Amino acid sequence: MHTQVAILGAGPAGLLLAHLLSLHRIESVVLETKSRSYVESRIRAGVLEHGTAQLLCDTGVGERLKRQGMRHKGINLGYSGEIHRIDLSDLTDGKAITVYGQHEVVKDLIAARISSGGKILFEVDDVCVDALSTNRPRITFRHQGQDCELTGDWLAGCDGSHGVSRTSVPPGALRVFEKNYPFAWLGILAEAAPSWEELIYAHHEEGFALFSMRSPSVTRLYLQCKPDEDLSKWPDERIWENLERRLSFAGSKKVRRGKILQKGVTTMRSLAVEPMQYGRLFLAGDAAHIVPPTGAKGMNLAVSDVWFLTRALADFYSKGRTDLLESYSNSCLRRVWKAQRFSWWMTCLMHRFDHDDAFELRRQLAELDYLTSSGAAATALAENYVGLPWEG
Ligand code: FAD
Ligand code: DHB
Repeated sequence: MHTQVAILGAGPAGLLLAHLLSLHRIESVVLETKSRSYVESRIRAGVLEHGTAQLLCDTGVGERLKRQGMRHKGINLGYSGEIHRIDLSDLTDGKAITVYGQHEVVKDLIAARISSGGKILFEVDDVCVDALSTNRPRITFRHQGQDCELTGDWLAGCDGSHGVSRTSVPPGALRVFEKNYPFAWLGILAEAAPSWEELIYAHHEEGFALFSMRSPSVTRLYLQCKPDEDLSKWPDERIWENLERRLSFAGSKKVRRGKILQKGVTTMRSLAVEPMQYGRLFLAGDAAHIVPPTGAKGMNLAVSDVWFLTRALADFYSKGRTDLLESYSNSCLRRVWKAQRFSWWMTCLMHRFDHDDAFELRRQLAELDYLTSSGAAATALAENYVGLPWEG
């Protein structure tokens, strides 16, 4: 099998790339190791930046997003037992975020792919990539018991943080930048109507908590926990008690309890590789960079990467030009590093690192006070949160 762009991974990056390429009549094949139902029910991100929601709507995959997505014009910061609203729209000329589950975006993109007759193979395994520095990069894999081979003019590594594309690049060709954090998030999805109308990022002496939602009847909540946290030590009652303490604010409602539908632990790290290209392999999304989830940047970065990649490939196929392909990595990395900085900053602001460090606690509280009392500081948060421009 040969195609113009061979895409590894049917997460947001790979699926959106295939969709955007098809609008330019560029052919692609998507390979995914998991099943369709698995990727369509994998609970992850929930916050779409202004530009992400707009791109999905402008390219014909925003029908459900427009109906079911929840447009939020503000977020809240909770600390010292009080809640403070940051008016994102007022501070960013009317921009907003949309709360809409990543798995819903994935479902919409798979439906678009299948209805347009685009090729997508689920449940492939033994995936290997090679010949990256030739003009026919190649993927070998097994599908339905058969050995298969796919070559492409180009290869897009959209296979996430544990995929094979980044690790197939020869040692030394990519520089890796990495930071680890001494905590993780315990996340739950609960059958409970959201108590508040907008997200709350809560700083608390016992650790960070985040209140979010997925629909008018489903709440999404996170608690700072240890990276090696044993979920069996977290019965539902303990989770709710912790959430109630950490999300308790003077004169405000209480978190509403409900049946816990899903529980999981997410570890946190920052990672970026440079360049995001090797030969004819382009890395996009989590395959190229990982951010800690505070600030909700991961999926949004995957979207801006594939927007840059589509533009470069469209220019190549329509005009024979390679300059945008050559500058792909630099264009993405300018935005990636700003999102890395923001995610690192918000993570350091909201979490407890060392419970004995009283100086650090005072510093965080002073910064939160500054953010909620200075228009300049709040604007810096707001413009990053709704998403910086894709270029410039
Ligand atoms: P993935 O979604 O990981 O997709 C990669 C795909 O490749 C997967 O389907 C995988 O099965 C497949 N694959 C792996 N190996 C292979 C292989 N060898 N061959 C073929 N396929 C392969 N981001 C936000 O923007 N906003 C948020 O609110 C947010 N919240 C988050 C909350 C949590 C708890 C977590 C865990 C993450 C959150 N993120 C958020 C981050 C976001 O989920 C990721 O950044 C996003 O999934 C990246 O998309 P991707 O397509 O690059 O990678
Ligand atoms: C959600 C996840 C995030 O990482 C975040 O910063 C905000 C919301 C969510 O899953 O809803």
